[in-house]
Amino acid sequence: EKGGYPDFMLKEIHEQPRVVRDTLAGRMVGGALKISELGMSLEELQLIDRVYVIACGTSYHAGLVAKQLIEAWARIPTEVEVASEFRYRNPIITPTTLVVAVSQSGETADTLAAIREARIKGGKVFGITNVIGSPVARESDGVIYTKANKEIAVASTKSFLGQVVSLTLLSMVLAQAKGKFTQAQTRLLFGELADTAEQIERILADTTAIEEAALACKDANDALFIGRGMGSAISYEGALKLKEISYLHAEAYAAGEMKHGPIALLSKGFPVIAVATQSPVYDKVISNIQESRTRGALVVAVATEGDEEIRKHADYVIYVPRVRDAFSAITVSVPLQLFARAIAVARGCDVDQPRNLAKSVTVE
Ligand code: M6R
Repeated sequence: EKGGYPDFMLKEIHEQPRVVRDTLAGRMVGGALKISELGMSLEELQLIDRVYVIACGTSYHAGLVAKQLIEAWARIPTEVEVASEFRYRNPIITPTTLVVAVSQSGETADTLAAIREARIKGGKVFGITNVIGSPVARESDGVIYTKANKEIAVASTKSFLGQVVSLTLLSMVLAQAKGKFTQAQTRLLFGELADTAEQIERILADTTAIEEAALACKDANDALFIGRGMGSAISYEGALKLKEISYLHAEAYAAGEMKHGPIALLSKGFPVIAVATQSPVYDKVISNIQESRTRGALVVAVATEGDEEIRKHADYVIYVPRVRDAFSAITVSVPLQLFARAIAVARGCDVDQPRNLAKSVTVE
């Protein structure tokens, strides 16, 4: 049932082009983007003046991506919060607050408690989950089902991708409702979003550079993932994936924070994985890479195809196809998943069943 793959994680990573296609299927109707399951009228959408994305673990990281998109596109202030914090801190929720609860399993205790809290306070709750009929689906006002299908590996990969694509659609719908996107702009973006399926296939077709970089890092005790903007959001997921399956201590930082502390950790051979794809902050990331390298760091850069310049700054370069910055989390997450898995395999870890972790966390 692993379909010829050595583990479920690798099988699930390879399912991601299908997840993109299935998540988008049937969404563009007569040239208009629709999420009929939202359970909200256009007027209600127009009134939204604050968004909270609440989730745990990897799903929280999908929320970090969503914040970038909702604020950039719909211009609605958006906070992302781990559910275990949100539920206990008396968050400010009004009838025009949209709470987006993201949970693969749909049964994470803290996320459910946060949904209940939000509804008691009168907010609208929208769930994003992979499990049909799960508590998150039942208790939300509206729901998008991610089309990942059952995920067996404890470390989430394809569900994360399904969440990011679903949240991207939600961000586009909000932008449309707020009058920030014309239908033509939405269609253009939708087309580019659909293209990421094929771009992921290209990444999966040749993973040599990822494996080489992983071998160079496998004996490290610690690693840092850095990026800015979208690259910062995805760095958090890269670090979590690595630590949960390989037990290599990894942290993520917004790259601009390096000189405010973490740079003290660096010494010869310390792996720094930098998300350096084309974006408005590319040059700033390069400066952060340089400051790391000066301290002896071993730099693995994830960069855009065609960027030869980056080879001067990095020890290893992993290329991803060129996409607009808004969609870079989708493409960049794939090599980071493969990187974590390659290190875990090289360290002899059970990638599907990491120690101390369970697939769903139904206790506080
Ligand atoms: O089922 P959920 O999405 O609510 O689960 C949240 C986290 O427990 C989950 O993402 C966890 O961090 C995974 N081990 C990530 O790979």
